[in-house]
This record gives sequence, C-alpha cells and structure tokens, in this order.
Amino acid sequence: MSVQISPSILSADFARLADEAAAVEGADWLHVDVMDNHFVPNLTLGVPVVEALHKATGIPLDCHLMIEQPDRWAPAFVEAGAGSVTFHVEAAQAPVRLAREIRAKGARASMALRPATPIEPYEDLLGELDMLLIMTVEPGFGGQAFLDVMLPKIRRTRALIDKYGLDLWLQVDGGVSAETIERCAEAGADVFVAGSAVYGSDDPAAAVRSLREQAAA
Ligand code: DX5
Ligand code: ZN
Repeated sequence: MSVQISPSILSADFARLADEAAAVEGADWLHVDVMDNHFVPNLTLGVPVVEALHKATGIPLDCHLMIEQPDRWAPAFVEAGAGSVTFHVEAAQAPVRLAREIRAKGARASMALRPATPIEPYEDLLGELDMLLIMTVEPGFGGQAFLDVMLPKIRRTRALIDKYGLDLWLQVDGGVSAETIERCAEAGADVFVAGSAVYGSDDPAAAVRSLREQAAA
C-alpha cells in the first residue's frame, strides 16, 4: 500500500491557482472541490476552472464533485482534464453506469460517502471503482475538525478491499493533519486529502512531505 497525498486547493488562494499548484510540487494529486450550493451549502468552481488548472499544472487533478446530478456533470470534468473524478453516492442516480462512463472516458472513477452513509450497501459496487472516498467531515467547508467516529468505517472498508483482493484506493478527506493522519493510515487509508494542513502552512511542499512521512511510518 503506497501513500499518496492530495492537497486541497479549497484552502489555496483562488486568484493564484497556478502558483498554488506549483507550491505543492511533489504532491501526487491536486484535490479540486466542486460545490454547487445544493448538495452542500457552499459554492466554489466548475468545469472552466478545472480546464484552466489542468493546462497550468502537471500535477494530476483529483476532482471531488459535491454536486447534485453528478451523472450529468462528471463526464465534462473528465473532458476538462481531470485524472480522477469522485461523485457522491447519495447524489448519483446510477453509480455503476456513471463509474463505467468515467473510466471509459479515460479517468479514474471514484465514489464518496458522507459521514452518515454506510459502506455495507455498496459492497458489490467496489469492483467498479478505482477509489473510494470516506468523508471525515460533513462536506462543504475546509478547516473542520476530523471526525474520529469515521475510523471504524475506514477499517471495515479496508477489510472489504482486502477480502476481495481489489485494486481500490481508499481516500480520506476532512480534518486530515499532522494530528490525525497516522490514525487514518493505521485504519487503512492510503490517499490523504489535506487542505488547511497544507495551504495553511508557511511551506506547503514541506507540509506535503511531512504528511507523507507520517502516513508511511
Ligand atoms: C470539504 C472538502 C475538503 C476540504 C478539506 O468538504 O471536501 O476537500 O478542502 O479541507 P481540510 O483539510 O482543511 O479539512
Ligand atoms: Zn474534498
């Protein structure tokens, strides 16, 4: 299991996105939080910004769609250059069809669970996915406190991945920091989103390196 770090630009300076991407050189992914003020009570950015950011950085884009109607919008994010597209299962109409479409268009397909959404009903869908995202805060805002109560769900999901021998990455997002990343790694996560812990630091690239070391320890 190799550790990957995906800094969230939600905590970056939106007027200087290309520079902010360059500031995390060495990160595996750049996490892009798309919010529509319906699925979550916040509004951020859409397809044109993803397209521009893709042209401005060599770091692959990990787009997290916190939107209604992901079935309608996800393909456009792949076309805009996303390397990975995550939709929320609570919003998707046809998650298997959507995952297949994302893959067919050439990106990694990923499905997210809000904190109150259990993994068990989706056990049979895991083989259709490249990544599963377990939210460790209620989606919508950066800088919230990590929900420790999500650790058992991370452990149960890791056990399912191992049981079926799946090649499925397990991502955590929300409140991941120097204080919490070791608990997430110990529970079985291998892709770590961090917004405020990276962009709130004086040296974002160093923060990425040190999170990576802590997760791998
Ligand atoms: C929250 C977003 C997260 C957010 C994480 O809804 O999905 O990606 O940027 O921010 P931190 O790491 O500050 O909790
Ligand atoms: Zn996110």
